Amino acid sequence: MAHVAVTGGAGFIGSNLVSALLAEGHEVTVVDDLSTGMISNIDTKKCDFHNVSIVDAPGLKKALSKSEVIFHLGARGSVPRSLKNPVATHDVNATGTLNVLEVARESGAHVFFSSSSSVYGRNGVLPKDESMWLGPMTPYAASKLAAEGYVQAYGTAYEVPVTLLRFFNVFGPKQRPDHEYAAVLPKWIWKAMHNEPIDVFGDGSQTRDFTYVKTVVSICLDGMNRKVIHDGAINLAYGNRISLNTTIDLLKKHFPDLKVNYVATRAGDVKDSQNAPVLLKKLFPEVLPMKFESALSETVDWLKEFGETVAHGPTVSD
Ligand SMILES: NC(=O)c1ccc[n+]([C@@H]2O[C@H](COP(=O)([O-])OP(=O)(O)OC[C@H]3O[C@@H](n4cnc5c(N)ncnc54)[C@H](O)[C@@H]3O)[C@@H](O)[C@H]2O)c1
Repeated sequence: MAHVAVTGGAGFIGSNLVSALLAEGHEVTVVDDLSTGMISNIDTKKCDFHNVSIVDAPGLKKALSKSEVIFHLGARGSVPRSLKNPVATHDVNATGTLNVLEVARESGAHVFFSSSSSVYGRNGVLPKDESMWLGPMTPYAASKLAAEGYVQAYGTAYEVPVTLLRFFNVFGPKQRPDHEYAAVLPKWIWKAMHNEPIDVFGDGSQTRDFTYVKTVVSICLDGMNRKVIHDGAINLAYGNRISLNTTIDLLKKHFPDLKVNYVATRAGDVKDSQNAPVLLKKLFPEVLPMKFESALSETVDWLKEFGETVAHGPTVSD
């Protein structure tokens, strides 16, 4: 059993991870400012919850003082949100990460950092591997790349044990379907459930390497339990390049009357995304991803049964 902290633990991926850590019997601290996450996502009787911003360095230090492992997931997500307010995105995603690393520099905690495939940005070569050049196209991507730089620097300069994971498009239970910046899959499923048409930005031929949240959680647990420490970034996606139009066809199996509007493309959106999971499979050979179609079905079932629990979260308008 370890003492483990999860920043952003009341959010989508974080809360799935918190549940899994508790199930494994770990002592869990959650740090979250509840800006997009929800307290109802976690069992506050079973974990030590701190309503603290990662920008608040002293508050963060206090909250993380006992942690041997820190999963740093707290962030201002969303590309469009970063285009509206780049400085706030930098403060949370870059400076907030620096604050987490400062705690680890003193405590020696193992830090897992959740970066994003968006750091590849302008590099259109597919599939992506970790040796490729990076070209952020948005403040969100730039803030994640700045944070990656700090993670690697602290790993080298101060020998902080670090594991730098680049998430691709993660989806699954507890992902909010409702707010202005909601991710595409929960938003579409939610609209379909309410007999509303869905909007596709562009012609729907764009592709994504969707990763089920349970797979992300398995990687995190495996990485923690086996102390997987790696010098550079690790792309976390299994190379399943799925177009939005294919996704719509799969959703039509659940919602045969689904109506689709094709609208103008959106600023900052990457056209295609796909990982070459060679390093991922080498470092995490035991983790087997769930097939996209089954994971999508599980997500639809979850939203049908429990969607209301995540449908009315904090308003995200800045
Ligand atoms: N979901 C994806 O597809 C995806 C893809 C790439 C990277 N990521 C990264 O994974 C992490 C988790 O993303 P998610 O999809 O669960 O998003 P989420 O918005 O559900 O979770 C982020 C959590 O961080 C919290 N938070 C935001 N600002 C904070 C602050 N200043 N202090 C403390 N807590 C703060 C939010 O309240 C929320 O609970 C993020 O770092 C995100 O950038 C996610």
